[in-house]
Amino acid sequence: LVIVVVVVSVISHVHSSENTLTFSRQDFPPNFVFGSGTSAYQVEGAAAEDGRTPSVWDTFAHSGRLRDKSNGDVACDQYHKYKEDVQLMVDTGLEAYRFSISWSRIIPNGKGPVNPKGLQYYNNLIDELIKHGIQPCVTLCHFDLPQALEDDYGGWLSEKIVDDFTAYADVCFKEFGDRVSHWTTINEPNSVALGGYDLGSLPPQRCSYPYGENCTKGNSSVEPYIYTHNSLLAHASAVRLYQNKYQAKQKGFIGLTIFTYWLIPFSNSVKDAKATQRAYDLFMGWFINPLVFGDYPKTLKKHAGSKIPTFTPQQSELVKGSFDFLGLNHYQTVQITDDSNSLKLEERDAYKDMGVKRINSWNGGSYDEIQLDPLGLELVLEHLKQVYHNPPIFIHENGQRTLHNASLYDTSRMNYLAGFIRSLLNAIRNGSDVRGYFSWSFLDLFELIEGKEASYGLYYVDFNDPDLKRQPKLSAHWYSGFLKGRNIIS
Ligand code: NOJ
Repeated sequence: LVIVVVVVSVISHVHSSENTLTFSRQDFPPNFVFGSGTSAYQVEGAAAEDGRTPSVWDTFAHSGRLRDKSNGDVACDQYHKYKEDVQLMVDTGLEAYRFSISWSRIIPNGKGPVNPKGLQYYNNLIDELIKHGIQPCVTLCHFDLPQALEDDYGGWLSEKIVDDFTAYADVCFKEFGDRVSHWTTINEPNSVALGGYDLGSLPPQRCSYPYGENCTKGNSSVEPYIYTHNSLLAHASAVRLYQNKYQAKQKGFIGLTIFTYWLIPFSNSVKDAKATQRAYDLFMGWFINPLVFGDYPKTLKKHAGSKIPTFTPQQSELVKGSFDFLGLNHYQTVQITDDSNSLKLEERDAYKDMGVKRINSWNGGSYDEIQLDPLGLELVLEHLKQVYHNPPIFIHENGQRTLHNASLYDTSRMNYLAGFIRSLLNAIRNGSDVRGYFSWSFLDLFELIEGKEASYGLYYVDFNDPDLKRQPKLSAHWYSGFLKGRNIIS
């Protein structure tokens, strides 16, 4: 019996030491940057102040579609509290802050005259960050397309968006590029393609086919593909402008950010395994293949048939290689099952075109074990390394969702962050070219779909307090300790 106990304890020790890694900030490569992030509509507030006009997200929130009926009119009021927030970033030890610019604050009609008060706000924020040694990392469009462009010509569904987005980007590079060297053109266009134009769950709430509860607008299963095509062209056009006109002098980097999942088959059937491969092409390849190889994945072209636009040789040339880095927003692992069906092609949404179905969803506000999977990040990075020639990567978002009124003592978020950062370090040691990590989110903020019910923040924001008081959660203390050099055992 003694021998058995000794053997078992040796085996379990070996096993646990393989899964345990003591790590610290210093283990990451030189120039690796750690930060945290937010986006304009989710934190700024001042929605109608100093010349800002609504974006498609204001319209969405005001239509009463959110579960708690809230909107981002005030949000965290960062527009007025940016100095206080930058001080919190200093206290935390953030090296970089990822935020986005509100297009309709800079150019209220989406195109045409520039709003000097909009420029002033972002100049103030950027200067405040730089004064404290925090690197500003800027996204040009984090879901909030000016409503004026949606009304004028259907926003991203028209090719006109390419010139208007490029002109807006030009203003930002010119005005802020002397101090900003980390640019992202568009945040999660793959979420918008599926949520905004396929299933109707996100602004501008258009649906491929009107069989769902979200389907009030749109009725063309072609739209998600057109959105994707135009957003890729707009992205690439802005990148080429940056490269030709600004990059040599400003010495910055520019990329695009997509959401990623680690995908696993729901069952061990061959059908589910094949569906999982197709799901990679749908969620990631739809955007990454054109950026790396200049064309959509073969499976997507086969399954979407004539719905998917064809790149002209010039477009392909424009898009291919139009990035210095890829940003990834990675939260979870999901299971995929085969959903091939007999609907006519024109009646299917993009998921059904590819014959794939996502199994996991938030389960009454919490994740199941499969979803909270730090190893998934390492595997996604390995996948990108192998399939897409190891592109430079920033993890632009990663963090845990809890209910907003959950405890300040958020041990689960602390463990989540520790687990994913450890996984990231493993990926780097295995050769992935990752340059930075941003937790999502810095503050509790106005959350997509769930308004103020859900939270991801390191700092709690009391939305019932007229001063919107911020309070550090345990995760903020933990992240701060890590950034300031404390060893972490995960
Ligand atoms: C991704 C989005 O970019 C961000 O805006 C959102 O708050 C988080 N996911 C969490 O849902």
